[in-house]
Amino acid sequence: PRVLLVTSEAVPLVKTGGLADVIGALAANLSTLKVDVTIMMPGYPAALELTKQLQIISDLPALPGGDAELMQGVMPDSGVKVLLIRSPLFDKRTANPYVDQNGQELDDNAVAFASLAHAAVRVCAGKTDYPVPHVVHANDWHAGLVAALMKLEGVTNVGTALTIHNLAFQGNFALDKAEEIGIPADMITEDGMEFWGKMSYLKAGIAWSDQITTVSKTYAEEILGELGYGMQGILNKRKDVLSAIPNGVDLDLWSPSHDKLIKRNYSLEDMSGKAACKRELQRLFNLPIQQFTPLMAVGSRITHQKMADVILAAMPDLLERHPHLQIAILGCGEPQYEAQFKQFAADYPDRVGVSLGYDEQRAHALHAGADILLHPTRFEPFGLTPIYAMLYGTIPVASRVGGLCDTVIDAGSGDVLAEGATGILFKGEQPENLCEAVARALALYARPTQWETMQRTAMASDFSWSSPAMAYIQLYAKIAPTAARPLF
Ligand code: ADP
Ligand code: GLC
Repeated sequence: PRVLLVTSEAVPLVKTGGLADVIGALAANLSTLKVDVTIMMPGYPAALELTKQLQIISDLPALPGGDAELMQGVMPDSGVKVLLIRSPLFDKRTANPYVDQNGQELDDNAVAFASLAHAAVRVCAGKTDYPVPHVVHANDWHAGLVAALMKLEGVTNVGTALTIHNLAFQGNFALDKAEEIGIPADMITEDGMEFWGKMSYLKAGIAWSDQITTVSKTYAEEILGELGYGMQGILNKRKDVLSAIPNGVDLDLWSPSHDKLIKRNYSLEDMSGKAACKRELQRLFNLPIQQFTPLMAVGSRITHQKMADVILAAMPDLLERHPHLQIAILGCGEPQYEAQFKQFAADYPDRVGVSLGYDEQRAHALHAGADILLHPTRFEPFGLTPIYAMLYGTIPVASRVGGLCDTVIDAGSGDVLAEGATGILFKGEQPENLCEAVARALALYARPTQWETMQRTAMASDFSWSSPAMAYIQLYAKIAPTAARPLF
């Protein structure tokens, strides 16, 4: 069976967040399960550079953003097939796919991602030299127009699925762009892609895809109500085709026993390497090398979603209440938060280390070397980093929302550790809520037997891709053309 996975990001070509991790690993796992999967994404310069065996296979004339070329190649590690759209629109996206150096949305995002969807639909309609898939699986708003354009073009022999990795990113654009992106007025209705006086690419995907999934059970429930970001109405209308398929973790990349990016490998059987990783993390973040002092890491996009404002407000209290605590922060995001974190590092050089920017190796060093991963967040569709932390024996202190409710097991607040505990979960968005949770974690850290029990349980958790990949295959089987269903 053939599946076209349409995305804006995929590891190792281009990554700004968890979506890229998921696509890279899902594709590799589907291919192990004998699905003929192809990733389709924009030909950003980094993607063109890293893709192997790249060749032009078709012209893509007159996309919304002008003429383009369809290129075929394979992913560097997994060997999964990849289609890239080569166009001046993507050539210029050298650093970040969506924003400029000042964090401002690029003004041609509407046209760029409409071009991605049009190109995918041309493949599905048999208008290129690439085999027509049985299923096209769009991810996030970037690929949201795929199902809409399939309807418009009358392509009915390919099933359509949409996965929502984050409902807060919606791809909403001014209505006067409709003509340029090839969307007729009669699709821009309340039941279609009209959204508060704009048109929404994500809503288009929700309105017209055969099946919709999101990345955790709890998030699938939350988005029907309070965390629906204005899409509650359409999501409730399409509830019968909405389901949850939790992500897995790419264990080739994220296992302490063979991670190539960390200082020393370790495992449940021999944890000695973790101490070396802690020293390395302290060195990288200019913190005093101290084995027994607790080291708490933060590693995520520095944004309002990830409660950067709340971490900042809690910092003075955290540092004062826990005079031995060291804090290492890796991230990039909103400039005003970044500057405030930098200030803390300047004010407390022996206590706070800050590394701004995107750095894959440091992300691995952080998860391996820390004792605690602090992961507050206002909403979290899935949340990969607390899981990476658990697999590395680093205890997450995380918000009790979304996917985290399904993946982290709270230690409880009594003297006895809750059964199966793997971390600390907390409710609320106030600095006190966060401080109280950190205090709970540090109390456990001071009791080595309990701490080690949690570490061992966390490291032994199963987050492999095998069952999620099977769940996607079952989903594809539901929507593939009838004759092709037995293939899945
Ligand atoms: P989200 O997709 O919402 O950002 P996830 O936790 O699911 O959250 O995924 C985030 C991914 O991005 C993880 O792989 C994490 O390690 C990575 N990441 C985030 N910020 C950075 C950074 N500054 N440097 C390196 N990796 C980062
Ligand atoms: C999004 C979400 C994150 C999820 C990731 C992969 O970026 O914010 O929670 O883990 O997608 O599905």
